[in-house]
Amino acid sequence: MQPNNRIVSGMRPTGPLHLGHYFGVLLNWVQMQEEFDCLYFVADWHALTTNYAEARDVKAFVPELVADWLAAGLSPERCVLFQQSQVKEHAELHLLLSMITPNGWLERNPTYKEVREESSKDLSTYGFLGYPVLMCTDIIMYKPKLVPVGQDQLPHLELTREIVRRFNYLYGDFFPEPEARLTTSPKLPGLDGRKMSKSYGNSIYLKDPMSEVRPKIMSMLTDTKRMRLKDPGEPKDCNLFPYLELLAPTGILPEIEEGCRAATRGCGDCKKLLAEKMADFLEPIQARRKEYETRPDTLKDIINEGSAKARALAEETMADLRRLMNFDF
Ligand code: TRP
Repeated sequence: MQPNNRIVSGMRPTGPLHLGHYFGVLLNWVQMQEEFDCLYFVADWHALTTNYAEARDVKAFVPELVADWLAAGLSPERCVLFQQSQVKEHAELHLLLSMITPNGWLERNPTYKEVREESSKDLSTYGFLGYPVLMCTDIIMYKPKLVPVGQDQLPHLELTREIVRRFNYLYGDFFPEPEARLTTSPKLPGLDGRKMSKSYGNSIYLKDPMSEVRPKIMSMLTDTKRMRLKDPGEPKDCNLFPYLELLAPTGILPEIEEGCRAATRGCGDCKKLLAEKMADFLEPIQARRKEYETRPDTLKDIINEGSAKARALAEETMADLRRLMNFDF
């Protein structure tokens, strides 16, 4: 593996993945496999920053998350899939970085304030404040060039770069500054037009059977100003149209837009078309998932073997770093 061609990213194991995750991040991960040496990991320690009281539940989510990844097209032959807590070096580097990270940087992080205030949990913990420090650790351990993440992670990435600069200033040039890589897919709203999120109950999950997806599609909000079929609609104000932009062949989109604006095409037609395209899209994903579900040991092997590979890289980084800091006893 050439360090300069490496990318790293992770997700927390907090539940099944939905289309927002797929088009926002996962598709990018899948595509990047072709071009980069990829390390993708399950951020299970990160799950504890908010769900510390449900620590015992995290274990079951780990293979679930990896099953979603494999279903979406990640290949254990082409990338390293690992689990954060199986690479203890992350804990050591996190400790060292925590020594040099000013509190003010963490307290000013907009995500920190927002999540802490909105959450029903008590998040006035040391670990939750340090979320970005652990995230920085996960990334720089492998000295990647790029980090493919969703838009919401950009403040964290910026903090990572600041911590790297401070580390390099204090101890000598050691870590390269990683850069974020966003998807080019347009944003996909939830069924009700808000952000697609588990807590809003407005998601389509990659593992949802079509028998559940179809009624979800039928219940979708379209252009809310269009009350009757004979009212002209506006695809730009329609909540369903972005789904067609992602899933229907681009060639038929102009005709749909015209029909909507001329009030010759009804929302029911679009819903029917989307259901058809959604079935085509989900079918191969769910077929791959089924294969892994029948082989839980294979899934476990993939995670353990990937973690061993990541550990070897992390051990190398930490040996160099201990020498650099004169902590190599
Ligand atoms: N914060 C990320 C999320 O919530 C998960 C994550 C943890 C991560 N460590 C990371 C992502 C390192 C990229 C790189 O989705």
